[in-house]
Amino acid sequence: MIEHTIETVPARGELTGMARRWEYAMNWCFGNPPADEEGVQRWWRAACADGVRLRGAWPVEPEPGMTQRTPYATFASLDGTINTGHGHLEPADFITDVTVRTSARRNGLLTELMRTDLGEAAGRGLCLAALTASEATIYRRFGFGPATETISATLYTGAGFGLRQTPRTGLMREIDLDAAPAVMDEVFAAFHAVSRGSHARSAWHNDHATGIWSALTNSRTENVRAAAHWDEHGAADGVVTFSYRPAPADGHGLLVEVIEMIAAHGRAELALWHYLASIDLVGSVSVPHLNPGSPLPWALADPRHLRQTGREDLTWLRVLDVPGALRARGWDGTGRLTMEVSDRLGLSGGVFALDVRPGGAEVSGATGPADVRMDVSTLGSLYFGVGDPVAMAAAGLVDGPAWALTTLREMFATAEPAYGITYF
Ligand SMILES: CC(C)(COP(=O)(O)OP(=O)(O)OC[C@H]1O[C@@H](n2cnc3c(N)ncnc32)[C@H](O)[C@@H]1OP(=O)(O)O)[C@@H](O)C(=O)NCCC(=O)NCCS
Repeated sequence: MIEHTIETVPARGELTGMARRWEYAMNWCFGNPPADEEGVQRWWRAACADGVRLRGAWPVEPEPGMTQRTPYATFASLDGTINTGHGHLEPADFITDVTVRTSARRNGLLTELMRTDLGEAAGRGLCLAALTASEATIYRRFGFGPATETISATLYTGAGFGLRQTPRTGLMREIDLDAAPAVMDEVFAAFHAVSRGSHARSAWHNDHATGIWSALTNSRTENVRAAAHWDEHGAADGVVTFSYRPAPADGHGLLVEVIEMIAAHGRAELALWHYLASIDLVGSVSVPHLNPGSPLPWALADPRHLRQTGREDLTWLRVLDVPGALRARGWDGTGRLTMEVSDRLGLSGGVFALDVRPGGAEVSGATGPADVRMDVSTLGSLYFGVGDPVAMAAAGLVDGPAWALTTLREMFATAEPAYGITYF
């Protein structure tokens, strides 16, 4: 066991030496290069704007070889909102920057920081916590389940490319990078309001998207361009930032690498794709996050011009209060059953009667045996509709008779796939 104290640096006011050391340790553990002074200042401004809690496990005594006190482990969290369907934005605890120094690993520091943070979040009355994960093997033990997915893809825009219809409404224009943050904020607010699974976008994303400084890599991106789309009423409803790369070894023409694409709805997204595909000298466009419900494959004259290069989990969701989370969900299906939810951390869990009608869900405590049983991490995967209970039962994640699994599937099914737009 490593002797330590858990201390939290609130992100407000002056940038302190302790906050600098926290940032230094976090980047070290992610393998990022150390930030220069401008990078540190940008990180701090974004942390302050988001009201981040910079938790750490700190040494109690000077360490040999360390000139300054440096956390053994870092763990940041912030409060934001997550769209739980039907336009409801639910406050949630967002967790990020989870690291443990190599020499301090497997001493339970992450476990202690996680228990502390989730316990405080539940104490503040929050029903949900969320994170994005560098590795998919870490967080299920803490009650998180993969809850939204993202697709990375490349669109080949050379010979044979075409859209079945040319987007005709609205206005598409190049924009200055200075103007891009305000447009991105406007479009994101519109996207966030209507998209199930959308989660708060951290303040550093505008710097990342415009290439000024990325919290993901601790570096700049050169040669970034931006363009936006306005609807027929003059509201910005789509924005994209991108940079040019040399032609890939197997391709013709330049590669356009999308850094961030935000669209409030499918028509705006197609207008952005039409613009990107129209850039001269370009043979392909790569995108890091494509909405699983994107209209793009259906809009292409030849759908094979779009190749998925990856598909993986994006948001991991942790239910902190089962009845509260179920009542906050926008339901597209209906049905009733009893469910037993187990929670190793003892934060939520129990047996609940769930009655879902078109007007919403009624949830009350019940006594067992329940119709279905699952871990709280599995409920996280059902919450936005990404998990199919029947398939999950075959994988041992849900237990119950066939009729109850089918009922569960019908209740949790969503009209559209959930989508969150960024890592955080
Ligand atoms: C991931 C990381 C924070 C885990 O730290 P740690 O010191 O092992 O944490 P703990 O000792 O509290 O371990 C918690 C549990 O998770 C397990 N675990 C930790 N990392 C794991 C991994 N990558 N895969 C699977 N299990 C893992 C531990 O074995 C332990 O299991 P146990 O409770 O059954 O004993 C650390 O390895 C790290 O900093 N990695 C590099 C940065 C990173 O990827 N961070 C995650 C960002 S999303």
